[in-house]
Amino acid sequence: MKSYEIIDHTYDVVVVGAGGAGLRATFGMAEQGLTTACVTKVFPTRSHTVAAQGGVSAALGNMGEDDWRFHMYDTVKGSDWLGDQDAIEYMCREAAPAIIELEHYGLPFSRTPEGKIYQRAFGGMTTHFGKGQAYRTCAAADRTGHAMLHTLYQQALKHKAEFFIEYIALDLIMEDGECRGVMCWNLDDGTIHRFRAHQVVLATGGYGRAYFSCTSAHTCTGDGNAMVARAGLPMQDMEFVQFHPTGIYGAGCLITEGSRGEGGYLTNSEGERFMERYAPSAKDLASRDVVSRSMTIEIREGRGVGPQNDHIYLHLEHLDPDLLAERLPGISESAKIFAGVDVTKEPIPVLPTVHYNMGGVPTNVHTEVVSPTADDPNRVVPGLMAVGEAACVSVHGANRLGSNSLLDLVVFGRAAAHRAGHLLKSNGHSHKPLSADAGDNAIARLDRIRHARQEIRTADLRLEMQRTMQNNCAVFRTGEVLEEGVSHMTNTWGKMGGLGVEDKGLIWNSDLVETLELDNLMYQAVATLHSAVNRQESRGAHAREDFSDRDDDNWMKHSVIWVDDKGESRIDYRPVHLQPMTNDVQSFPPKERVY
Ligand code: FUM
Repeated sequence: MKSYEIIDHTYDVVVVGAGGAGLRATFGMAEQGLTTACVTKVFPTRSHTVAAQGGVSAALGNMGEDDWRFHMYDTVKGSDWLGDQDAIEYMCREAAPAIIELEHYGLPFSRTPEGKIYQRAFGGMTTHFGKGQAYRTCAAADRTGHAMLHTLYQQALKHKAEFFIEYIALDLIMEDGECRGVMCWNLDDGTIHRFRAHQVVLATGGYGRAYFSCTSAHTCTGDGNAMVARAGLPMQDMEFVQFHPTGIYGAGCLITEGSRGEGGYLTNSEGERFMERYAPSAKDLASRDVVSRSMTIEIREGRGVGPQNDHIYLHLEHLDPDLLAERLPGISESAKIFAGVDVTKEPIPVLPTVHYNMGGVPTNVHTEVVSPTADDPNRVVPGLMAVGEAACVSVHGANRLGSNSLLDLVVFGRAAAHRAGHLLKSNGHSHKPLSADAGDNAIARLDRIRHARQEIRTADLRLEMQRTMQNNCAVFRTGEVLEEGVSHMTNTWGKMGGLGVEDKGLIWNSDLVETLELDNLMYQAVATLHSAVNRQESRGAHAREDFSDRDDDNWMKHSVIWVDDKGESRIDYRPVHLQPMTNDVQSFPPKERVY
């Protein structure tokens, strides 16, 4: 600590991350009069939520009949019965008020001719428990995340939340099994900050950048998950990594599922609309795991398009150009820039691309982090909450439905604010004293990485990790390929001590930032591979060719994994909550998924 100037801060709540979940939590806290800081490594409106395109789900029924119970059923089915039904009920019931609230905050939704919020079709979203097509995804053209992020940031400013922008969160301050704060590094002036808080809320997003090709921003390095692992706490369901069916071939940029919601469809090299074979009813709007697998099978069996038969075509050229301009302007531009394609004339070359992590920090429905023990699968870690993609609450189970992510952000961001308000009212506002060495662990890690003087370049080791994840933990998996991935990753972990960071400075040292992020990613890469080897069944996004069936008798349970600072792991389990929260809806017992 001596070598650094430490600046101390005390707040009721510190939120780490300023994407949709972080901002919703931040202003919800501030709105209740809690002193609230939001620490973020990028300017809030540049957080990855800005890239969300197609929309946010809620059974408003603006474009046809709908009911939150239908939405709940779809989400349970989409999760392949790994989602917790109490949390899913909460999310789907709260969806309509959450969207109306956003509308009142000024989110510029697209409109129906009567002036209602426009809603489009999305994968896996049905009416009458699978019988009809739902129009449930509320959209602001194909820039819904952008609109949402600006709306939420405005609210946070209105409620006078304090922002610490371009601060890198280093590690949690844990004392007596409780979280008491978080250590951060200010990139702008190189100072180190110790934030003390009654509640730290992790809203740090997913870890898509563990893979070579993903739709995630370069900032998506799962920093919160790694801080949790270093605090000796587990991550949950890390084997479930979602591949979005339509990343632009070669570039990985997202082409929204909303494009299929508006009438787009996929073809193979024979010009066949092959989804009709795999999902005769839902076709191109089956859930993402199903569509990604079908595309992969087509390519494997030699029916991919292009000179190498290694991708698939997404057709929009049959749609009215005015509709494309009004509802899908963003992806029309992306297709032009990244694939050189005019969507009004030719198909877009696409490939399943890593998009979302269903796994993350386990929480209860109030967003409090849990760390199971032999006696208590739901033991709460006092002082620590997690929301959004960083968290595993678990509403998405083994596979998330498109447009349920933006919903998760706002519903559980708000739930975190309510819970923190409640806890602070019950427990009072006086802070427990911090020990003299609070935060030393974070400084020791920073120093170790900053002063690393060996030969290996961060970019080279990152590429090695990303290639292993891409090759050994993909859409289809086998025990043998996953074991090989574990062995490669163990080898990569072993090389971390050989890294060299050339720039020793503390002001805008991007070399050091990227090395800290790589260190974070490695915990999650290890967790994902080990959890995937361990789960000997196929469920949702986890498709094991050597265990091709879902096995509810043995595997309808969440995996929780601890990864230590040597890269070694330990796995345990938590039960899936099959009981809804109230008697207003029945439990949906597991059954075969048919689309
Ligand atoms: O396809 C999309 O617009 C993505 C939406 C989502 O991941 O929820």
